[in-house]
Amino acid sequence: MVKIAVLGYGTVGSGVVEVLRTNQKVIDERLGEELRIKYVLDLRDFPDDPVQELITHDFEDIVNDDEVKIVVEVMGGIEPAYTFVKRSLEAGKSVATSNKALVAKHGAELLRTAKEKNVNFLFEASVGGGIPILRPLHSSLTGDVIEEITGILNGTTNYMMTKMFYEGADYDEVLEEAQDNGFAERNPEADVEGYDACRKIAILSSIISGKQVDFEDIYCEGITKITAEDMKYAKAMGMTIKLLATCKRDGGKLNAMVAPCLLRAEHPLFSVNGVFNSIFVHGNMLGDAMFYGSGAGKLPTASAVVGDIVEEARNLDRNLGVMWSSEKLTLEDRRDVER
Ligand code: HSE
Repeated sequence: MVKIAVLGYGTVGSGVVEVLRTNQKVIDERLGEELRIKYVLDLRDFPDDPVQELITHDFEDIVNDDEVKIVVEVMGGIEPAYTFVKRSLEAGKSVATSNKALVAKHGAELLRTAKEKNVNFLFEASVGGGIPILRPLHSSLTGDVIEEITGILNGTTNYMMTKMFYEGADYDEVLEEAQDNGFAERNPEADVEGYDACRKIAILSSIISGKQVDFEDIYCEGITKITAEDMKYAKAMGMTIKLLATCKRDGGKLNAMVAPCLLRAEHPLFSVNGVFNSIFVHGNMLGDAMFYGSGAGKLPTASAVVGDIVEEARNLDRNLGVMWSSEKLTLEDRRDVER
C-alpha cells in the first residue's frame, strides 16, 4: 500500500480527495497496489465530512511519518508551502503540487532536491489545469526541439474576452460578472494583469530550455486597457483579441511575452472560448500540436494532481529526471516583434 498526505483541504485539496475516492478501484488496479490518504493537513476541522478522521493540524505528523511516501501540496502561495515541500523532499518523500507560484519561483531548486533524494517533484496541474502539457513536453516530446509555445493560459481573462467579443460588453461589466460567477478572484489582479499567465509561460519556457526562466524577466501586459471599442474594431476586421502567453525560439535565443493580441479567424486559438485554455506547440520534428481543455476548476485540476501522485507511486525511489536547472536563461527583449 502507498500512503500519501494532502496539504490543504480547499478547492483543489477536496477535489484530490474526491478523485481518489471516486476512482479508487481503477487507480488501485492501474497502480497494482492500494493508494490511500493517511493525513489531510488543514487549520480547520470538518465535523460533517468523512475527511475529518484524516485531519491533522500539525505538519510534523506528516514529515516524521516514514509510511507517508508522497506529499500533495495544494495550499497555494509561497509560505508555508515552500517550507513544507522542501522538508518533505529532504525527508525522502515525493511531492505533487498544483502551486504555480511556488514552481515558478523555486522550481529549479526543488527539482534538484528531489533528484538528490531520488524522489520526484511533479506539478502538472500548475499549467493548464487539467490539460496534460508538462509531462508531454518533458517526456513524449523529449526528442524534439520545441520552437514555439503559444497559449491561452488563463481561464478568467479568456472568459472576459469571450464575453466582450460575443456580447459587446465592456471590461468592468464582464469583470464583475466573472467575479459573481466565481471565475475571477475578488482581487483579480493576478488574472487581469497577466501575472498568472506569466508564471505559467515561465514554467513552460523553463521546461523547453532546461534552464530557469524568471517570470519577472518576461514582458507582461494584461487586459485592463482593452475596451468594448477595441473589441468592436477587432471584430470589424474579422479578428478577436485574446490574452496570449508565448515563448519562441529565435536561433539560440528564447523570447517570451504575455500580452493581449489580435487573432485572425484562421488562427487555431481564435475559437478557444470561455474558461477553456489551449496551448499550441511547434516542435522541429513534431510540427504543430494543440492541447485543449479545462484550464481551471476543482476536478480538472485535481485530475492532473492525481495523475502526478500515481506517477510518483509508480516511481518510488526512482527520479524521473530534472526538468530544468538553476542556471538562469536570459531572455531576448522582443516586445517589439509582430504579434
Ligand atoms: N485564475 C486561474 C485562471 C486559475 O483563471 O486560469 C487557474 O490557474
